Amino acid sequence: MDNFTFYSPTYFVFGKEEENQAGKLVRRFGGSKVLIHYGGGSVVRSGLLDRVRKSLEEAGIASVELGGVRPNPRSGLVYQGIELCRKEKVDFVLAVGGGSVIDSAKAIAAGTIYEGDFWDFYMGKTIEKALPIGTILTIAAAGSEGSGDSVITNENGMFKRGATGEGIRPSFSILNPQLTTTLPPFQTACGITDIMAHLMERYLTNTKDVVTTDRMIEGLMLAMIEEGPKAIKDPLDYEARANIMWAGMMAHNNSCGVGRSQDWNSHDIEHELSALYDCAHGAGLAVTFPAYLGYVYRHDTDRIAQLAVRVWGCKDDPKNREKVALEGIEKLRAFSRSIGMPVTLGELGGREEDIPKLAHTCCYGDGRDGFMHGFAKLSEEDVANIYRRML
Ligand code: NZQ
Ligand code: ZN
Repeated sequence: MDNFTFYSPTYFVFGKEEENQAGKLVRRFGGSKVLIHYGGGSVVRSGLLDRVRKSLEEAGIASVELGGVRPNPRSGLVYQGIELCRKEKVDFVLAVGGGSVIDSAKAIAAGTIYEGDFWDFYMGKTIEKALPIGTILTIAAAGSEGSGDSVITNENGMFKRGATGEGIRPSFSILNPQLTTTLPPFQTACGITDIMAHLMERYLTNTKDVVTTDRMIEGLMLAMIEEGPKAIKDPLDYEARANIMWAGMMAHNNSCGVGRSQDWNSHDIEHELSALYDCAHGAGLAVTFPAYLGYVYRHDTDRIAQLAVRVWGCKDDPKNREKVALEGIEKLRAFSRSIGMPVTLGELGGREEDIPKLAHTCCYGDGRDGFMHGFAKLSEEDVANIYRRML
């Protein structure tokens, strides 16, 4: 296992009706004037926004609001948010929504107190400081409620990039599984797929002897395979929703990723798809992951076969691990299909003629060095081949 540091200071409040604690929690973490940031309207329709306003009022916290975050959040709204926070002297940003809202809130929180252009952070500058952030999560998926990451699409060129830093770990996150019961099955499935992808990105490691984190990842993946279909079948199944919600946090606050190299090639390959076609991130991953694994499994056939045996229930065959690995990849694809996810590029609105552009942006966009450096090193041609496997 490699040396590591792990600092995850978020205060989690989990369970039914806990969003009514929002006002008290903002006060506890030093906020007196809040930006309430939200998305395209689900929190208005569900009545959640009203409950949050009431909770803030009861705690004597002033607020301003900025809605309209869209999935694959855009830089334009971040600039608006920064201007609003500066003008209104906001000292706390409260995200009410999913990963897109939280990521946009993180960008605003960092950008408000930064003198330069907030996009610097998405070009690689670490986010050391930001306004404090609270989240009220409405979809179990991206794990942004516990992560030090944010992903934004730059409208000037439509490419999607991530920023990272301890400064944007939320001060608190409220996780009420009831809030996720209004999700349509497609969004629930996208969330399950993203959670599983976050686990697999960490499973694909070149570090040896990482049994504890391997076993944590396998356990969380098995929980998703068990609980995911239950939530799709019965959206009101509170216990399934609760298990998925906590798995989403555990999959991405990096407790399963410490002390080991991680992959993230699939995420980078997917980000080009959601930037260009504006598809849901989870749906893009359902298409990307099996195609990627099918291309790179020989980099460490035993590891992919181990995942196939321990998570997908394939029978081990020490004399033919390649067969076992490939069976596991097929089971992953079949699982995606069974929960209603796409598995081909065409289903995302993708086109074969875009592949050279996708591969080029992926490898060279924004100052990248022409290669992807994850589990396996990939050239532009490799990446184009992976996109072709999605056809
Ligand atoms: O905008 P509203 O109206 O709220 O609708 C949203 C949106 O259309 C809807 N929704 C959310 N909660 C709902 C609901 N509809 C009904 N009932 C509810 N309770 O769901 C749609 C998707 O929301 P979004 O926030 O986009 O989903 P998700 O949480 O999957 O976030 C995806 C974004 O997170 C990024 C992705 O790239 C993508 O941009 N990621 C962020 C990460 C991070 N910060 O650590 C890591 C991830 O790998 C990921 O890249
Ligand atoms: Zn993801």
